[in-house]
Amino acid sequence: MRNFPYTCAHLLLSKAKGSHSRALDLGCAVGRSTFELARRCTEVVGIDYSRSFIHSANQLKKRGHLKFQLCEEGNRTTPSLAKVDARIERNNVHFQFGDALHLPRNLGTFDLVLAANLIDRLPNPTFFASKVAPGLIRPNGFLLLTSPYTWSKEYTPESKWWRNSFSTLKKLLQPNFRLIHRQDLPFLLREHRRKFQYTFADATLWRRSVN
Ligand SMILES: C[S@@+](CC[C@H](N)C(=O)[O-])C[C@H]1O[C@@H](n2cnc3c(N)ncnc32)[C@H](O)[C@@H]1O
Repeated sequence: MRNFPYTCAHLLLSKAKGSHSRALDLGCAVGRSTFELARRCTEVVGIDYSRSFIHSANQLKKRGHLKFQLCEEGNRTTPSLAKVDARIERNNVHFQFGDALHLPRNLGTFDLVLAANLIDRLPNPTFFASKVAPGLIRPNGFLLLTSPYTWSKEYTPESKWWRNSFSTLKKLLQPNFRLIHRQDLPFLLREHRRKFQYTFADATLWRRSVN
Protein backbone atom coordinates (compact mmCIF):
# COMPACT_ATOMS: atom_id res chain seq x y z
CA MET A 1 0.00 0.00 0.00
CA ARG A 2 2.87 2.39 0.76
CA ASN A 3 4.36 2.22 -2.71
CA PHE A 4 1.52 2.46 -5.16
CA PRO A 5 3.56 3.20 -8.34
CA TYR A 6 5.79 0.18 -7.61
CA THR A 7 2.73 -2.04 -7.06
CA CYS A 8 1.12 -0.89 -10.33
CA ALA A 9 4.24 -1.59 -12.42
CA HIS A 10 4.73 -5.04 -10.88
CA LEU A 11 1.04 -5.96 -11.18
CA LEU A 12 1.29 -5.23 -14.90
CA LEU A 13 4.59 -7.11 -15.30
CA SER A 14 3.36 -10.13 -13.33
CA LYS A 15 0.10 -10.51 -15.24
CA ALA A 16 1.59 -9.78 -18.67
CA LYS A 17 4.04 -12.64 -18.70
CA GLY A 18 6.49 -13.03 -21.57
CA SER A 19 9.00 -10.71 -23.15
CA HIS A 20 8.06 -7.10 -23.74
CA SER A 21 10.04 -4.64 -25.72
CA ARG A 22 8.16 -1.34 -25.37
CA ALA A 23 6.18 0.04 -22.43
CA LEU A 24 4.46 3.38 -21.88
CA ASP A 25 3.69 5.02 -18.53
CA LEU A 26 1.09 7.73 -19.12
CA GLY A 27 0.79 10.28 -16.31
CA CYS A 28 4.16 9.05 -15.04
CA ALA A 29 4.73 11.91 -12.52
CA VAL A 30 8.41 11.64 -11.44
CA GLY A 31 8.78 8.15 -12.94
CA ARG A 32 8.63 5.60 -10.12
CA SER A 33 6.56 3.13 -12.19
CA THR A 34 8.46 4.01 -15.36
CA PHE A 35 11.78 2.94 -13.84
CA GLU A 36 10.20 -0.25 -12.44
CA LEU A 37 8.88 -1.22 -15.90
CA ALA A 38 12.47 -0.95 -17.19
CA ARG A 39 13.39 -4.00 -15.09
CA ARG A 40 11.71 -6.12 -17.76
CA CYS A 41 11.22 -3.91 -20.86
CA THR A 42 13.93 -2.76 -23.21
CA GLU A 43 12.36 0.65 -23.85
CA VAL A 44 10.04 2.53 -21.51
CA VAL A 45 8.53 5.94 -22.27
CA GLY A 46 7.14 8.06 -19.44
CA ILE A 47 4.85 10.95 -20.38
CA ASP A 48 3.39 13.59 -18.07
CA TYR A 49 1.61 16.91 -18.46
CA SER A 50 3.69 18.52 -15.68
CA ARG A 51 6.99 20.04 -16.86
CA SER A 52 8.28 20.06 -13.31
CA PHE A 53 7.60 16.31 -12.84
CA ILE A 54 9.33 15.57 -16.15
CA HIS A 55 12.30 17.72 -15.09
CA SER A 56 12.60 15.74 -11.82
CA ALA A 57 12.20 12.42 -13.64
CA ASN A 58 15.01 13.41 -16.01
CA GLN A 59 17.24 14.32 -13.05
CA LEU A 60 16.59 10.85 -11.61
CA LYS A 61 17.43 9.31 -14.97
CA LYS A 62 20.65 11.32 -15.33
CA ARG A 63 22.04 11.02 -11.79
CA GLY A 64 20.14 8.07 -10.30
CA HIS A 65 19.12 10.19 -7.32
CA LEU A 66 17.28 13.40 -6.46
CA LYS A 67 17.23 15.52 -3.32
CA PHE A 68 13.84 16.68 -2.11
CA GLN A 69 12.25 18.18 1.01
CA LEU A 70 9.83 15.93 2.88
CA CYS A 71 7.06 17.91 4.60
CA GLU A 72 6.91 17.21 8.34
CA GLU A 73 4.42 19.87 9.45
CA GLY A 74 3.69 23.45 8.46
CA ASN A 75 6.82 24.69 6.72
CA ARG A 76 9.20 22.32 8.55
CA THR A 77 10.78 19.83 6.13
CA THR A 78 13.42 17.12 6.25
CA PRO A 79 16.06 16.93 3.50
CA SER A 80 15.55 13.57 1.79
CA LEU A 81 16.98 11.61 -1.12
CA ALA A 82 15.08 9.59 -3.76
CA LYS A 83 17.24 6.89 -5.39
CA VAL A 84 16.73 4.68 -8.43
CA ASP A 85 17.78 1.07 -7.87
CA ALA A 86 21.24 0.72 -9.47
CA ARG A 87 20.12 -2.54 -11.13
CA ILE A 88 17.64 -0.63 -13.33
CA GLU A 89 19.01 0.30 -16.75
CA ARG A 90 18.20 4.01 -16.71
CA ASN A 91 19.28 4.50 -20.32
CA ASN A 92 16.28 2.41 -21.42
CA VAL A 93 13.90 4.99 -19.92
CA HIS A 94 12.81 8.16 -21.76
CA PHE A 95 10.73 10.93 -20.25
CA GLN A 96 8.81 13.51 -22.20
CA PHE A 97 6.30 16.25 -21.50
CA GLY A 98 2.97 15.54 -23.19
CA ASP A 99 -0.80 15.42 -23.02
CA ALA A 100 -2.42 11.98 -22.94
CA LEU A 101 -5.23 13.32 -25.12
CA HIS A 102 -2.89 14.79 -27.76
CA LEU A 103 0.02 12.42 -28.03
CA PRO A 104 2.69 12.87 -30.72
CA ARG A 105 1.95 10.94 -33.91
CA ASN A 106 5.41 9.35 -33.94
CA LEU A 107 5.04 7.75 -30.49
CA GLY A 108 4.40 4.31 -32.02
CA THR A 109 2.72 1.38 -30.30
CA PHE A 110 3.48 -0.53 -27.09
CA ASP A 111 3.31 -4.02 -25.59
CA LEU A 112 2.41 -2.61 -22.17
CA VAL A 113 0.64 0.62 -21.25
CA LEU A 114 0.12 1.83 -17.70
CA ALA A 115 -2.19 4.74 -16.92
CA ALA A 116 -2.25 4.89 -13.11
CA ASN A 117 -4.71 7.32 -11.56
CA LEU A 118 -4.86 9.35 -14.74
CA ILE A 119 -8.36 9.02 -16.22
CA ASP A 120 -10.14 11.09 -13.58
CA ARG A 121 -7.62 13.90 -14.20
CA LEU A 122 -8.47 14.16 -17.90
CA PRO A 123 -10.87 16.69 -19.45
CA ASN A 124 -12.24 13.94 -21.70
CA PRO A 125 -11.87 10.41 -20.23
CA THR A 126 -14.24 8.93 -22.84
CA PHE A 127 -12.02 10.11 -25.69
CA PHE A 128 -9.02 8.58 -23.93
CA ALA A 129 -10.66 5.15 -23.44
CA SER A 130 -12.37 4.89 -26.82
CA LYS A 131 -9.89 6.59 -29.16
CA VAL A 132 -6.45 7.05 -27.56
CA ALA A 133 -5.95 3.73 -25.75
CA PRO A 134 -6.76 1.40 -28.70
CA GLY A 135 -4.26 3.22 -30.93
CA LEU A 136 -1.39 2.84 -28.45
CA ILE A 137 -1.40 -0.89 -27.82
CA ARG A 138 -0.20 -3.69 -30.10
CA PRO A 139 -2.44 -6.72 -30.71
CA ASN A 140 -2.24 -8.96 -27.60
CA GLY A 141 -0.66 -6.08 -25.65
CA PHE A 142 -1.79 -5.09 -22.15
CA LEU A 143 -3.34 -1.98 -20.66
CA LEU A 144 -3.43 -1.46 -16.90
CA LEU A 145 -5.75 1.32 -15.75
CA THR A 146 -6.15 2.31 -12.14
CA SER A 147 -8.50 4.97 -10.83
CA PRO A 148 -10.40 5.86 -7.68
CA TYR A 149 -12.87 7.62 -10.05
CA THR A 150 -12.60 10.86 -8.07
CA TRP A 151 -14.44 13.03 -10.56
CA SER A 152 -13.79 16.71 -9.99
CA LYS A 153 -14.70 19.87 -11.92
CA GLU A 154 -11.10 21.00 -11.41
CA TYR A 155 -10.01 18.46 -14.04
CA THR A 156 -13.09 17.19 -15.88
CA PRO A 157 -16.22 19.15 -16.85
CA GLU A 158 -19.22 17.59 -15.09
CA SER A 159 -20.81 16.70 -18.44
CA LYS A 160 -17.86 14.30 -19.05
CA TRP A 161 -17.95 12.48 -15.68
CA TRP A 162 -18.81 8.78 -15.81
CA ARG A 163 -21.83 7.94 -13.62
CA ASN A 164 -21.08 4.27 -13.18
CA SER A 165 -17.39 4.38 -13.93
CA PHE A 166 -16.50 0.69 -14.28
CA SER A 167 -19.53 -0.08 -16.52
CA THR A 168 -18.73 2.90 -18.71
CA LEU A 169 -15.08 1.94 -18.96
CA LYS A 170 -16.07 -1.61 -19.94
CA LYS A 171 -18.47 -0.39 -22.61
CA LEU A 172 -15.85 1.94 -24.07
CA LEU A 173 -12.98 -0.56 -24.06
CA GLN A 174 -14.82 -3.75 -25.00
CA PRO A 175 -14.79 -3.26 -28.78
CA ASN A 176 -10.97 -3.43 -28.65
CA PHE A 177 -10.03 -5.05 -25.33
CA ARG A 178 -10.86 -8.03 -23.13
CA LEU A 179 -10.91 -7.59 -19.34
CA ILE A 180 -8.54 -10.13 -17.84
CA HIS A 181 -8.12 -9.00 -14.23
CA ARG A 182 -9.69 -6.60 -11.74
CA GLN A 183 -8.77 -5.78 -8.14
CA ASP A 184 -8.83 -3.00 -5.57
CA LEU A 185 -5.49 -1.28 -5.11
CA PRO A 186 -5.30 0.79 -1.92
CA PHE A 187 -2.90 3.68 -1.66
CA LEU A 188 -1.81 6.29 0.89
CA LEU A 189 -1.08 9.88 -0.06
CA ARG A 190 1.15 11.56 2.50
CA GLU A 191 0.31 15.19 3.14
CA HIS A 192 2.57 15.57 6.19
CA ARG A 193 3.95 13.47 9.04
CA ARG A 194 0.56 13.02 10.70
CA LYS A 195 -1.83 13.25 7.76
CA PHE A 196 -2.44 10.65 5.06
CA GLN A 197 -5.25 10.16 2.60
CA TYR A 198 -6.35 6.53 2.23
CA THR A 199 -7.97 5.64 -1.11
CA PHE A 200 -8.92 2.54 -3.12
CA ALA A 201 -8.18 2.59 -6.81
CA ASP A 202 -10.04 0.22 -9.13
CA ALA A 203 -7.30 -1.59 -11.06
CA THR A 204 -8.41 -3.17 -14.33
CA LEU A 205 -6.13 -5.04 -16.72
CA TRP A 206 -7.16 -5.29 -20.38
CA ARG A 207 -5.76 -7.27 -23.30
CA ARG A 208 -5.84 -5.74 -26.79
CA SER A 209 -7.75 -7.89 -29.27
CA VAL A 210 -6.25 -8.93 -32.58
CA ASN A 211 -8.53 -7.07 -35.01
C1 LIG B 1 -2.77 11.33 -9.63
S1 LIG B 1 -1.26 11.52 -10.49
C2 LIG B 1 -0.75 9.83 -10.74
C3 LIG B 1 0.74 9.71 -10.87
C4 LIG B 1 1.27 8.28 -11.00
N1 LIG B 1 0.80 7.65 -12.22
C5 LIG B 1 0.87 7.46 -9.81
O1 LIG B 1 0.01 6.59 -9.96
O2 LIG B 1 1.43 7.68 -8.74
C6 LIG B 1 -1.79 11.99 -12.12
C7 LIG B 1 -0.63 12.35 -13.02
O3 LIG B 1 -1.13 12.56 -14.34
C8 LIG B 1 -0.56 13.73 -14.87
N2 LIG B 1 -1.50 14.26 -15.88
C9 LIG B 1 -2.64 14.96 -15.68
N3 LIG B 1 -3.23 15.24 -16.86
C10 LIG B 1 -2.46 14.69 -17.82
C11 LIG B 1 -2.53 14.63 -19.23
N4 LIG B 1 -3.53 15.22 -19.91
N5 LIG B 1 -1.58 13.97 -19.90
C12 LIG B 1 -0.55 13.37 -19.23
N6 LIG B 1 -0.41 13.41 -17.90
C13 LIG B 1 -1.35 14.05 -17.20
C14 LIG B 1 -0.34 14.64 -13.66
O4 LIG B 1 0.63 15.64 -13.91
C15 LIG B 1 0.09 13.63 -12.61
O5 LIG B 1 1.47 13.40 -12.64
